[in-house]
Amino acid sequence: MKRKTRLKALASESGNGMDRKQTTGRALILHPVLKSKITGLPTPVCLSPRARLNEARGLALAIDLDVICAEVVPVARPRPATLLGGGVMDRMAVCVAKEKIDIAIVDMALSPAQQRNLERAWSCKVIDRTGLILEIFGERARTREGVLQVELAALSYQRGRLVRSWTHLERQRGGYGFMGGPGERQIESDRRQIGKRIIRLKRELEEVKRTRSLHRVARKRMPCPVIALVGYTNAGKSTLFNRLTGAGVFAEDQLFATLDPTMRGITLPSGQEVILSDTVGFISDLPTDLIAAFRATLEEVLEADLIVHVWDVSHPHSDAQKCDVVEILENLGISQNQEAGLVEALNKIDLLDTEAQEPIMSRAARQESCIPLSALTGEGCDTFVGYLDARLSRRRLVVDVTIGLEDGASIAWLYSHGKVLSRNDDENHAHMTVGLDPTDFARFEHLRAC
Ligand code: GTP
Repeated sequence: MKRKTRLKALASESGNGMDRKQTTGRALILHPVLKSKITGLPTPVCLSPRARLNEARGLALAIDLDVICAEVVPVARPRPATLLGGGVMDRMAVCVAKEKIDIAIVDMALSPAQQRNLERAWSCKVIDRTGLILEIFGERARTREGVLQVELAALSYQRGRLVRSWTHLERQRGGYGFMGGPGERQIESDRRQIGKRIIRLKRELEEVKRTRSLHRVARKRMPCPVIALVGYTNAGKSTLFNRLTGAGVFAEDQLFATLDPTMRGITLPSGQEVILSDTVGFISDLPTDLIAAFRATLEEVLEADLIVHVWDVSHPHSDAQKCDVVEILENLGISQNQEAGLVEALNKIDLLDTEAQEPIMSRAARQESCIPLSALTGEGCDTFVGYLDARLSRRRLVVDVTIGLEDGASIAWLYSHGKVLSRNDDENHAHMTVGLDPTDFARFEHLRAC
């Protein structure tokens, strides 16, 4: 379903009956802080509650909602029925009615029952963090795989809500659930439809993934290292990608403007060809379903020869964002060793004054893998590209080989797997100097030995 239609559906369910043209609804955002977080117990999330609230506001703006109020709400004891305590529930009911709120966003995972109970108490549509991110993902996915994955995640989410909202629906209709009324049949039939669709989607996804892995195998055969750009959403990955490749990738001041991996070949100053890959932006507390759904997208990252962490150093919570990215990379199985090999692009330095730039510059002076730059103005980008070039060249061996001219297969193999830097032929032999990956060199030696 397209965004406008989908949100119209959300709004029409809200009960406030507002006619919306451009904005998709008036929103209230609550970021609940559970007691353990209030008391300062360590939690895996690095962002402060206020930063998280701002992030949720950014997510809401990304789907054109009009954010009317946004609040951090302490939850001393989460209530199974509503999550929130009675005081907050009452206060929000007043706010929803007074401000004509269409959608209340609770920036946390709600159980289907909690969602329904809040909707009933406030008479407006309620969505949780997963629902909100699904909305955005649904809007932004562009490639076939991205679209299929979002639909799969959305249907699994919806199926859970359908099943458990059954009792509520029955009660609302005054039906006799135990007799098996029409509500039950309808929901059962919806569930079956969703189940069938999920099976079909999984099958289609398998097909798309198979094609993609074939492409990857083909790419592996080419002597092209892959550089993956990763980073927090809105850090500037697409802008950097565009600057380096000259491609018109969607770069916007919106969270999750990029959802699907985009790849382009570029030639580094040494003549080395590489593939640059722009990936989905990370966000703290990404719903687990979505991590699973986007794992395929992030597989590109796992297989990259070099991972560039694009980091918005001008962001007020840049350290916390960095911490979240590192955590997500670790969850993806990117080991300490690989992590130590990360290149950091300290982006948006044009937004910092000289004083604020100082710690960034001194960090860069201490650590050569940290490069301050501005993807927007281009400042520092030449140094960055030069560094990538040097890093990748360090991995390459330059070997001199002599091959009998009759061994056309070996000569062709070197052309297709390495970079032939020079070649002189005499009557019987080709004398070649070739840049090769260590693994390819080992393969070449093995092939010749056979
Ligand atoms: P997602 O798709 O959400 O993951 O975002 P992204 O990391 O690809 O960010 P994107 O390139 O879309 O940039 C986000 C916003 O930051 C855009 O408005 C860019 O113009 C802006 N931006 C990116 N790099 C810079 C920079 O170096 N300086 C300044 N001032 N703005 C930048």
